[in-house]
Amino acid sequence: MQKLAIQGGTPLRGEVRISGAKNAALPIMCASLLTADTLRLTNMPDLHDVITMRKLLEQMGVAAQVAPGEIAFTGDLINKWEAPYDMVKTMRAAILVLGPLVARFGDARVSLPGGCAIGSRPVNLHIKGLQAMGAEITIEHGYIHAKAKRLKGARIFFDIVSVTGTENLMMAAALADGVTVLENAAREPEVIDLANCLRAMGAKIAGDGTDTITITGVEKLGGAEHRIMPDRIESGTFLVAAAATGGSITLTETRADILETVLEKLTEAGAQIKVQGNTIHLEMNGRPKAVNVRTAPHPAFPTDMQAQFMALNCIAEGSAMVVETIFENRFMHVQELRRLGAQIDVEGNTAVVKGVDHLEGATVMATDLRASACLVIAGLVAQGETVIDRIYHLDRGYEHIEAKLEKLGANIRRLK
Ligand code: UD1
Repeated sequence: MQKLAIQGGTPLRGEVRISGAKNAALPIMCASLLTADTLRLTNMPDLHDVITMRKLLEQMGVAAQVAPGEIAFTGDLINKWEAPYDMVKTMRAAILVLGPLVARFGDARVSLPGGCAIGSRPVNLHIKGLQAMGAEITIEHGYIHAKAKRLKGARIFFDIVSVTGTENLMMAAALADGVTVLENAAREPEVIDLANCLRAMGAKIAGDGTDTITITGVEKLGGAEHRIMPDRIESGTFLVAAAATGGSITLTETRADILETVLEKLTEAGAQIKVQGNTIHLEMNGRPKAVNVRTAPHPAFPTDMQAQFMALNCIAEGSAMVVETIFENRFMHVQELRRLGAQIDVEGNTAVVKGVDHLEGATVMATDLRASACLVIAGLVAQGETVIDRIYHLDRGYEHIEAKLEKLGANIRRLK
């Protein structure tokens, strides 16, 4: 199993290009199931999850033409409407094929994802929404089997805001008969990016970016070309790493408007931030100040940035409260941070972090994608060497992370 070894203590300095967003690329790849024409995607990140999703689509009969930073998908010869357990268990976003498959082919078999490190993560809202649109759903041998002649437009209310739930039903509704209204829908920028792509394919969608999305179904969707939006979590991760190490970095090809709460929190921590077009510059002088964070659906503070801010708070001046309201078990990184000398108390969904003046390198284990990013940040600030085990989590969602960090001056290497 591969590991990362980091020699801490060097402030990050320089420029880094932000990649296309994983959480936009994955649903948008699934939109290729909605048409027989070619969907050409650019600014595609080179990530394990993207490769897994491409393989899943190829297994169904989608043709994928891969070039650097681009993939063109053509779904004219799809002959299998199934997502097997082996793939869904490694990447929960595979559930996103369910809506498009049942909408276009009237039949889909998708493995139930099961639990994962950060919580139980059910898909009941995806299922309930498709049922409201007239799909007949049975659960058999661990698989969701959905059937429908043609889905019908419906009014669907989400009890809990769900990002992939919103995306799955938006794609299904694009080919349904009639109007679908999604209420209490997710407002994440990646939902807007998917809606933009679907509109380019001929879908009729309004209200994306608000909590009420209206989709008027069409008979057929066509091909399109779409550029994947920048990754706001990768952007946030590099900014926090620079702030924690007392560095000075410039992110290029990103967007500040999708990072508002994160930039506010970094400013509160003492960072100076300048935005110019699609670049963000951050400069940190001295020790960061502790900042409270409370995760909630967009536009509030993203759960995918919680662990990274926890790392920053570990070495900040003062104490901070970190409250996780989205996933019930997303403090797996706390135990590992404690091994580096962090002082953190957890009570239910709240962690109280008391800043210490330094962390000390140790061997730690990555437990999920964003927890891994948190350990990388902690390793960058810790004195001595930190070795992070199980970094396959990191490769799922961060493009060429050690190459990018090395270019910013970090002393980091991959142990194979
Ligand atoms: C997406 C993101 C993930 C991010 C999360 C929250 C992708 C590929 N992944 O995951 O990085 O951490 O949003 O911003 O975009 N829930 C239910 N029933 C459902 C669906 C969800 O109870 O049917 C609950 C979940 O357990 C969780 C909450 O709703 O507590 C939000 O989850 P959701 O927004 O669905 O997360 P994902 O879409 O899986």
